[in-house]
Amino acid sequence: WMPLDVASSRGMLPRGGTLLGTRRGSPYDHTAGLDQVRAAFDELGIDALVVIGGNGSLSVASLLHNDLGLPIVGVPKTIDNDVVGTDITFGFNTAVQIATDAIDRLHTTAESHDRVMVVEVMGRHSGWIATHAGIAGGATAILIPENPFDLDEVCELLRNRHERGRYASIVVVAEGATPKEGTMAGRDKVFDQFGHVRLGGMAETIAHAIEERTGFETRMVLLGHIQRGGTPTAFDRVLSTRYGIAAIDAVHAGAWGHMVAMRANEVVPIPLSETVGRTRPVDMHLYHEVAEVFFG
Ligand code: F6P
Repeated sequence: WMPLDVASSRGMLPRGGTLLGTRRGSPYDHTAGLDQVRAAFDELGIDALVVIGGNGSLSVASLLHNDLGLPIVGVPKTIDNDVVGTDITFGFNTAVQIATDAIDRLHTTAESHDRVMVVEVMGRHSGWIATHAGIAGGATAILIPENPFDLDEVCELLRNRHERGRYASIVVVAEGATPKEGTMAGRDKVFDQFGHVRLGGMAETIAHAIEERTGFETRMVLLGHIQRGGTPTAFDRVLSTRYGIAAIDAVHAGAWGHMVAMRANEVVPIPLSETVGRTRPVDMHLYHEVAEVFFG
């Protein structure tokens, strides 16, 4: 822990990551976990805890508030943009910008060498980054977990495109994208120490299969943690500043067990319980009526 006063927070705006340090894990995974949390509150004289995180962190925040009655306020932060109850999480815009910049650069190689480039972005359960970066980067196809894909249909799009004289294509794949049953060999699942499926590498399987089925030279790029690093966009800096102010207001109002959320460009407190155990899927209207219009 460290005191987060004005002096220690100075220079934070252009920085990514967290000053405090962070890890994956929950006090509920340890026998003495809850006692340790309670002891830390008492020892440090903590009046309020502001939990900044995605679905996992916010779910634990909600449980700690309910089970121990702790004074907790949540702030939605994840590049995945998949927190239920808010229109947007901070970190998402930065990740989309990084992925879009990468796609812009990949167009050069795709066009110079007449290649298909398969780009994998993050998103285990939701394809927000893939959909936004795919639209912004002019993808030929975007594969997301919410919409299981048939690789033959993707190959058909690529063949049609080549017949029209366009030999370079970008296929954007969310790491959690899955093939429709029986359409492509799956991959063995690997789990991390917290039981999360460790994803990453779907693009490789897809790139091989595209090359095999179409004969088009295909390469893959896995953006991985590059999307989660570096300096935040101006949009994310403004968003997190707005969330920060609202979180402090919620603390002063004693709105424990609430999360600050964006609703139609207003930051409002909503019960943390609304978000627990849920994942916000991609807006399928955006996927089908906007992104898909430009496939092929
Ligand atoms: O939840 C944020 C996230 O970046 C996901 O998009 C991604 O699947 C996961 O974390 C990666 O986790 P790790 O850093 O443990 O590989």
